[in-house]
Amino acid sequence: MMITRVHVICGLLVGCWLATPTLGLTASEPNLPRGKKVYAKYCLACHGPQGRGDGATQFDPPVADLTSSEVLMKPDSRLLKSIHEGRPNTAMDAWKSALSDEAIHDVLAYILTFPR
Ligand code: HEC
Repeated sequence: MMITRVHVICGLLVGCWLATPTLGLTASEPNLPRGKKVYAKYCLACHGPQGRGDGATQFDPPVADLTSSEVLMKPDSRLLKSIHEGRPNTAMDAWKSALSDEAIHDVLAYILTFPR
């Protein structure tokens, strides 16, 4: 059978359509309720209920205030990396083995809803 351009495009479309739900490629819309749950379970103890960094005070350098301009001026990609990889020589751990990429996206989206 001759493979035409139509076949290739159609194959790509069907492939993407099939892959989308399984690979979680629909993640454009963050799941805020899930982000909130992740935050409560893993982050709140240090970062505090409103992200002000007032959950745990014994660390040096101190826990970041997630509503501060210092944090918010960083692009999302940088903050995702901080959550993913942690921050070297601080109490901020890497979360990539505990949390899926989707959960990390959701928790970042939730953090960005805190009143500033
Ligand atoms: C053990 C305490 C602790 C826990 C738990 C914790 N953090 Fe942090 N976090 C810190 C500290 C300390 C810093 C400041 C790091 C620094 O000075 O660079 C920080 C910084 C951050 C920053 C700012 C990073 C940057 O690039 O400036 C973000 C975003 C963040 N944490 C998100 C989270 C999320 C999301 C969770 C839960 C999945 C979490 N943290 C859990 C202690 C914690």
